[in-house]
Amino acid sequence: MYGGGGENMQKDVIDFKFCDELVEEFKQVVKHPVRSKSSVYYVGVDLGTACVVTVVLDENRKPVAGAYEYADVVRDGMVVDYIGAVDIVRRMKAELEEKLGVEELVYAAAAIPPGTDTLDGGAVKNVVEAAGYLITSLEDESTAANKVLRIQNGAVVDIGGGTTGISIFKDGKVVYVADEPTGGTHFSLVLSGAYRKTFEEAELFKRDRANHKEILPVLKPVIEKVSAIISRHIEGYQVDSISLVGGTCCLAGIEEIIEKNTRIPTYKPIDPMFVTPLGIAYSCTDKER
Ligand SMILES: Nc1ncnc2c1ncn2[C@@H]1O[C@H](COP(=O)(O)OP(=O)(O)OP(=O)(O)O)[C@@H](O)[C@H]1O
Ligand SMILES: [Mg+2]
Repeated sequence: MYGGGGENMQKDVIDFKFCDELVEEFKQVVKHPVRSKSSVYYVGVDLGTACVVTVVLDENRKPVAGAYEYADVVRDGMVVDYIGAVDIVRRMKAELEEKLGVEELVYAAAAIPPGTDTLDGGAVKNVVEAAGYLITSLEDESTAANKVLRIQNGAVVDIGGGTTGISIFKDGKVVYVADEPTGGTHFSLVLSGAYRKTFEEAELFKRDRANHKEILPVLKPVIEKVSAIISRHIEGYQVDSISLVGGTCCLAGIEEIIEKNTRIPTYKPIDPMFVTPLGIAYSCTDKER
């Protein structure tokens, strides 16, 4: 095993094949929905700070349709625009039903940042129900992501727009969850200051992969802050790998800075952006919660 951050140490390989294939299939069906006959559909709704995503799986848990939209209805994991959130989720539901040719998508799972369930679990649940779904489960985001990553031991870290969620797994079971209000929004704020761009300009500049090499050094301090957050939470647990998901981890090179600072081998799937929403859909059942 890799002994903690040494330059020439051999790193184990984490196999994200299942996840990578699923994300690729999802991206395809967003463009070209699959009108298959299915006895039941499993829906995942991810009401994120930056992005609202709906994933539809068929009875074999294959992606058949999906939609996503950048929106400002949630801040730091809290629903701040209730009506706006309901509108988006309801509109996506109707569009997906039409594209799939199904009368009604009935069941959905949703997610909440860990630790906010008493505060906001109710709001997320109410949004999804007001949009017309029966809620089957509410998971925390990083735990949902692992339904697709399938890590037995190690930490799953979801760096989204507003928050960083951390779940630690031992023998496939969650032993610790946490969530902290730092994410991609802070990255965009740093870029906005450094490049004298508006927040929106900085956000688009950041998402363009062609700029990643240039912006990585500018973002290093905020990535180090995220690394410190991760280190603080996993301290005291036997964590020998970190798996990164969430849109912010699309940033090329983020994994190396996190690995160097936490001194724990760090991995990410090919496209970390839709892993959590797919995991949420994986936790959907056909039984109301
Ligand atoms: N190609 C990219 N490069 C860098 N950052 C990206 C890229 N694509 C998306 N992001 C960033 O990822 C973030 C959105 O990720 P994600 O959809 O996982 O967040 P979210 O679920 O909406 O937020 P949260 O989980 O914090 O509530 C945004 O800050 C966005 O700028
Ligand atoms: Mg998220």
